[in-house]
Amino acid sequence: MRRKLVVGNWKMNFTASAASKIAEEMVPKMAEFTSVDISLCPTFLSIPGLEIALKGTNIAVGAQDVFWLESGAFTGSISATMLKEHGVQYVIVGHSETRGRFGKLDTPEDTVLYFAETDRTVSLKISAVLAHALIPILCVGETLSEREAGLTDEVIRKQIHGALDGTSPDHLAIVVIAYEPVWAIGTGKTCDASEADRVCGVIRATIEGLSSDAGLAVRVLYGGSVKAANAPELFGKANIDGGLVGGASMIPDEFAAIVKAAN
Ligand code: PGA
Repeated sequence: MRRKLVVGNWKMNFTASAASKIAEEMVPKMAEFTSVDISLCPTFLSIPGLEIALKGTNIAVGAQDVFWLESGAFTGSISATMLKEHGVQYVIVGHSETRGRFGKLDTPEDTVLYFAETDRTVSLKISAVLAHALIPILCVGETLSEREAGLTDEVIRKQIHGALDGTSPDHLAIVVIAYEPVWAIGTGKTCDASEADRVCGVIRATIEGLSSDAGLAVRVLYGGSVKAANAPELFGKANIDGGLVGGASMIPDEFAAIVKAAN
């Protein structure tokens, strides 16, 4: 039986002091949900504060990104060792916002390269995260034009193979995969629960193709405008093992209701 997981991705929101305050507010609201894994991923600067606020609770600290090397001349980057020193357990890798595959974000064309992560960089990051005994949350998802062209399953399979080919079965079983249709992120448009379940099934089958044991063990989350109102239906689906939640994870009562649905 796979244990459900709900992860809050705070993106570039909250100063460190505000993040600690919200995390402290979350702690008593989450305490009763002991049948589900919970994590919050703040900005790097807020991680030390959350490490303190969440110590000894059932909420794990996560990070939104990582660089794949240990140290060196990589301005602006952070390593898995640096994250681990501050109690980080989960690391989001390959979010559509770091792949430069924006949905609603209005980003000038000449800034996209700043974000444009490739399947190769995603793969290097996944390996680094696993090598440090952290849990990667690999994000995959199609854009609206890819969906309309009937390319959804193909795009998802390509992203999974690009990120995970060559990963050992033991490591594959640890990986968490989040299906996040780009057109549903931050837009208020949720993917229909049956369709989300179908694509999460495609993800599981793709992992099964790499290792049959890992296919059963891997946790597949749905992300994209998850809220308290749609969480019960989404989490009730056979192939959906929880959620990666953006906007709604910043509101303690709303996030608690989502976690409750998974619990
Ligand atoms: P959202 O973001 O819940 O605000 O749509 C989800 C995500 O980007 O992980």
